[in-house]
Amino acid sequence: MYKFVIKGGNKLSGKVEVSGAKNASLALMPAALLAPGTYKIDNTPDLVDVSTMSKLMETLGAKVSLSGKLQTIDTAAVNNYEAPYELVKKMRASIYVLGPLLARYGYAKVSMPGGCAWGPRPVNLHIEGMEKLGAEITLDSGYIIARSKRLTGARINFDVSSVGATGNVMMAASLAKGTTVISNAAMEPEIVALGEFLMKMGAKMSGLGTSTLTIEGVEDLTPCDFRNIPDRIEAGTFLVGGAMAGGSVEVTSCEPKHLSALLSKLEEAGVKIVASADSIRIDSPDAIPPVDVSTSPYPGFPTDMQAQWIALMARSTGSSVITDTIYFDRFKHVPELVRLGADIEVRENLAIVKGVKLLKGAKVMSTDLRASASLILAGLVAEGTTEVLRVYHMDRGYEHIERKLRGLGADIERVQSDEF
Ligand code: EPZ
Repeated sequence: MYKFVIKGGNKLSGKVEVSGAKNASLALMPAALLAPGTYKIDNTPDLVDVSTMSKLMETLGAKVSLSGKLQTIDTAAVNNYEAPYELVKKMRASIYVLGPLLARYGYAKVSMPGGCAWGPRPVNLHIEGMEKLGAEITLDSGYIIARSKRLTGARINFDVSSVGATGNVMMAASLAKGTTVISNAAMEPEIVALGEFLMKMGAKMSGLGTSTLTIEGVEDLTPCDFRNIPDRIEAGTFLVGGAMAGGSVEVTSCEPKHLSALLSKLEEAGVKIVASADSIRIDSPDAIPPVDVSTSPYPGFPTDMQAQWIALMARSTGSSVITDTIYFDRFKHVPELVRLGADIEVRENLAIVKGVKLLKGAKVMSTDLRASASLILAGLVAEGTTEVLRVYHMDRGYEHIERKLRGLGADIERVQSDEF
């Protein structure tokens, strides 16, 4: 086990390069199950979640390797269609193999995913989507068992905008007979990237990036090569870190247009922003005014930046309200931030943050990926030493985070720890 030991107070400045998007990789990899052969996906991040998905693909019979940023996937020998609980419980995104296995092999047995730390995370929209495409679904001792000779196109409307369910249905519908129209489809850049990947494989679809997707099923698809998009949440995390720790930070190899909601909120908070084609430079003000945020599906303010924004507001000059309309109980980071001296009250799905002048270092516990990020950011500005335990949460979604932060001048190191 490891912990991060952070000595707060250093200003952050300099350049940091963003890695490929975790939540795009986790959709592109299972899409390679739709057509047998070899795929090369560049700008793939070296993350625990990516290796978990690689292990899952390998249990299905695929070969997956990562050399530097170039991932090679070979799905010619896929001969198993069951995603076991042992792997799926580690990562909810494993559910992404359901659509491709069902569409290509006519059968899939996928364990129901474990929840994230912030409560149960249903998969009803995934199941209903497959049923609408004609699959016969049974739920048996924690597994989703799906069968279909050939999926048929359908009209599918999601009551709730769902990234994962949109991705699963897009992949399944690509090989269905006939046309599928998805309304209230997710518009996240990771879904657009998945759509572009599928079209490179020969899928026929229109409406990418809008809330209505039309997919003409084809008889078969072919392998392709692809370059993954930058990780907008990693980029946003460094921008918020720069805004908190003062100084001037430039985030490179990113996609500014994926971050407009965050950038406008940062400007409201007095942060100076200069964006170019693939980089964003920020200069932070001495004092950060309170700025309310309410998360919503893309292009709104991302729920995956909610915890980091609360950390920023913890030292603002007033009181702000941060509402999460996507996950009503994604606030496990709040009690830990309070241990650092923050003044935050959670009421149902909102946090009322009263800015304080000073945060003081303490030992805190990561509970999930983005919660850990908010604790690390708070540690960068807290007086004294902060120890963040259970850094395995961070390693799921941030590539070499301490190395990147040290490159910006942070005093942070990864230390062996038997504390759990
Ligand atoms: C994706 O999760 C991301 N993960 C999450 O990022 C992100 O927080 C989330 O989208 C929202 O943006 C990946 O892409 C791998 P959803 P996903 O289906 O697809 C409800 C991170 O930190 N819902 O868009 O699982 C659900 O409860 C992770 O990188 C149903 O009700 O999220 C939530 O309230 C954390 N039934 C809302 O929809 C379903 O069948 C949005 O969830 C599916 C979802």
